[in-house]
Amino acid sequence: MSTLSSPPAIKLAGLLPPEGSWRSCFSYHPFDIELAKAEGIYLHDTQGRRYIDASGGPMAINIGHGDARMKAALNAQFDRYAYAHPSLANRARAELSEALVSLAPASLNSVYLCSGGSEVVESAIKLARQYHALTGSPGKFKVVSCYESYHGMTLATMSLAGNPAYRKTFEPVMSNWPHMAQYSEIHMPEGMDREAWGLQCAQELERVLYFCNPATVAAFIATPHGSGADYGLVPPGSYWREIRRICEQHNVLLIADEVVTGFGRTGKWFAMEHFQVEPDLLLLAKGISSANLPLAAMLVSDKVNQPFLEDRGYFLHGYTHQGHPMACAAGLATLNILREDGLVEHAAAMSPRLFAARDKLMAHPTVADVRGWGLFMALELVESKDRREYFGMEKQAEYLFQALAFENGLALYGTLYGPRRSPAVRRGLPIMISPPLCIQPAQIDDLLQRLDTTLSQWEERLLG
Ligand SMILES: Cc1ncc(COP(=O)(O)O)c(C=O)c1O
Repeated sequence: MSTLSSPPAIKLAGLLPPEGSWRSCFSYHPFDIELAKAEGIYLHDTQGRRYIDASGGPMAINIGHGDARMKAALNAQFDRYAYAHPSLANRARAELSEALVSLAPASLNSVYLCSGGSEVVESAIKLARQYHALTGSPGKFKVVSCYESYHGMTLATMSLAGNPAYRKTFEPVMSNWPHMAQYSEIHMPEGMDREAWGLQCAQELERVLYFCNPATVAAFIATPHGSGADYGLVPPGSYWREIRRICEQHNVLLIADEVVTGFGRTGKWFAMEHFQVEPDLLLLAKGISSANLPLAAMLVSDKVNQPFLEDRGYFLHGYTHQGHPMACAAGLATLNILREDGLVEHAAAMSPRLFAARDKLMAHPTVADVRGWGLFMALELVESKDRREYFGMEKQAEYLFQALAFENGLALYGTLYGPRRSPAVRRGLPIMISPPLCIQPAQIDDLLQRLDTTLSQWEERLLG
């Protein structure tokens, strides 16, 4: 992916050759822009150029970069101790757990901490299986997930992923667990009510359970707003309420993967609040520490906790860095800053400003959809709106989009470019706009203007 097919009219950021100090970094292919400093919503490179962190890293930066309160909290924890021996009580862990429970839905009252999204999903799979083993259903081991979903990069989390692009190379993965179609509006019959359609889509879970035998299913996992081609599409409440009902009926645990949507991203602390549906396990990462340190949390419902409280078993799991005091301090500081600055409410208030650009963006020939909630906006980019398909690999369209965005002062998260993109992705390609939640109205306008310019230049290069 070193050169573009047509000569660049403007100088574009290139991919970094594996030379010099970069030579020792395994499988490393970033752009040749070196980060020097990050502040608020901005990233600064070593050449003195400034970029808006338009996707908040990989949808992970919820408070602004470089917050002095974060620095003070980390310093204070370091002055006490940086690591806690696993057999000693660690106050930072207790305080963070208590703070998370105080924010969470009523039935989620205990917290298991780990270091990242993949780890927390993996932990949830194990907890779901052990819960059923302890409550008289040891035959329940499968986890149903959605086609095209993404829940992490470990072998077990890839078993959940429905996108062959991620798993093909590593097959056989842990297990070929059942998948179902996620909520999508692409085949919604004209004139049908969304609530009715949501109900119909959720009932696919009933069919999947019937065919794979519900007595073998431990859990269903999904993100609140879909994945893959329909990433960012918010289902109606009927969808999640029906999923909850079906899970209940078949003694299947409901796992909400809120690794992306937690901590104000959607205008509420947790996205499942929009649907008023309480999962059995709520998984959080990324924004939990605003990526200042690696941290993730699994919020466990009273129901799932019960057999463990009754001493019927001990969760057979653990990591060296689980509940790491420095990471917990980063988590606590993040929650305090979100609260002190009212950033969850701010995200809700800023949302209309971001989505006001929908019509202007949709006017572009390559923008098939603009969707999302709060300060999370996904653009579905296509080569042709009629065919609703993305550009062929040879066009290097994702790379070009990101490179042009950098030229226009926007740092975007490139999700599926290059070898990761699957031929199975027949729809458009989602591009995420999810800036730090502290973004101000004028900065939103600036971001949107730069995005609009990037789209125009991209179209000029690809469509002529
Ligand atoms: C929904 C979801 N779950 C899990 C993960 C895995 O998180 P991590 O990259 O921290 O392992 C991601 C990462 O993007 C994600 O988007």
